[in-house]
Amino acid sequence: MRILSGVQPSGKLHLGNYFGMMKSALQLQEKGDAFIFIANYHALTTVHDRERLKQDTWDVALDFLACGLDPERTIFFRQSDVPEVHELAWLLSIVTPMGLLERCHSYKDKIAKGIAPSHGLFAYPVLMASDILLYQSNLVPVGKDQKQHVEVTRDIAIKFNNEFGEEVFTIPEPFIPDEVAVVPGLDGQKMSKSYGNTIELFGDMKEAKARIMRIVTDSKGLEEPKDPATCNVFALYKLFATPAQRAEMEANYRGGNYGYGHAKKALFALFEERFAPLRAKRAELQANPDYVEQVLKKGAERARAAATVTLDKARKAVGLA
Ligand code: TRP
Repeated sequence: MRILSGVQPSGKLHLGNYFGMMKSALQLQEKGDAFIFIANYHALTTVHDRERLKQDTWDVALDFLACGLDPERTIFFRQSDVPEVHELAWLLSIVTPMGLLERCHSYKDKIAKGIAPSHGLFAYPVLMASDILLYQSNLVPVGKDQKQHVEVTRDIAIKFNNEFGEEVFTIPEPFIPDEVAVVPGLDGQKMSKSYGNTIELFGDMKEAKARIMRIVTDSKGLEEPKDPATCNVFALYKLFATPAQRAEMEANYRGGNYGYGHAKKALFALFEERFAPLRAKRAELQANPDYVEQVLKKGAERARAAATVTLDKARKAVGLA
């Protein structure tokens, strides 16, 4: 079984990304032949800043490797290192009805937010279909917001297969991991860069501490018993505490004479301890850019070998070869 996932480079990794996208992407490695790539062509639809695109792309590579991506097992690459994806995108676009793209929520949402409606933004789902079909993927784990794009991919693949009378493409299935943790931010809303309420995984530790100390709580006094179930500090703590640590914290909350300041200090201590090995790993990778580059290049070579097989089939099917 082939499982494929693309990740747009979008700035510094925070706890929300880590417990959401990152952990579920890394679990793919256990489930089949995993392809994970950094969708830098897609990022270009919204990022027009050369240095930022480069930096963000590099950061995603370091983040994934530091958090446990095994490049022997998983084919890990930069989308732009396999430009074949564009030739296939063109072959797909000739069977893609305008109406299918016009109905895409993601496009409409981006326009509503003020992003310029370029052709690239409109054609985004066709490029994504090409990513998925190029590698004959069976399963595509995505967040809810990307499910429609996988459905569009299925429609395009079925249409192409019908029109050209060949079984060129595997029809993929979307997979929405259901136990993706809801990670609250400092203010209790979903943790997200756009709300400015994040805690970065690999940022400055002093800053992380200051941010943890700012997490919003109710105003119960030190001596009062507290309810862990409604507390943002506890919600974050339990994401990475052991069952014993979690039970102890719950007892502290319920027992009284335990303030939110204590809970925040405990959260910071655990955060520091839990992510220290990943931070060390990331620092090591950062000091070895040649190694990281070589991992990405090797990943691209392996991806390309698979891509060429599909592209040849598609070229033959339409009459180009
Ligand atoms: N559009 C996806 C996102 O924003 C990223 C992406 C690009 C992707 N190509 C893909 C995801 C192919 C899965 C499969 O999250």
